[in-house]
Amino acid sequence: MAGWTFLVAGPAVASELQEHARTPSALEQMVRQDCGSCHGLTFKGGLGSPLLPENLENYSVEDLSSIILDGLPGTAMPPWRAIISESEAAWMARYLKTGGSK
Ligand code: HEC
Repeated sequence: MAGWTFLVAGPAVASELQEHARTPSALEQMVRQDCGSCHGLTFKGGLGSPLLPENLENYSVEDLSSIILDGLPGTAMPPWRAIISESEAAWMARYLKTGGSK
């Protein structure tokens, strides 16, 4: 009887489904429009600093994801945590680091 407990699946299975709440093309559009409005439509900079691969060389995907999720306090860079998931932020970080080729 007690043995059945071990067959119960953990909640880990469900999180895989939530990972891709937005499709890559929806994310791409968001980066270009929402981020581009401050960082420049070609990411060469505007109100926000340039986000071209050569500008981001010293940041890891993790560094960039946390900047995106939490913003940069004291600057105009807003936090996005309420709007996007961690995996979406990581997708954006990879997108920027590879210059839009993911
Ligand atoms: C309201 C304007 C605004 C929007 C929208 C915005 N940013 Fe920023 N962002 C800034 C500013 C300003 C800075 C520079 C802060 C500083 O260092 O003075 C910045 C900095 C950054 C940095 C750090 C760059 C570096 O070289 O240190 C990253 C990465 C970044 N933004 C990514 C994004 C992404 C991705 C989005 C979209 C999800 C986004 N930003 C949307 C204004 C914005």
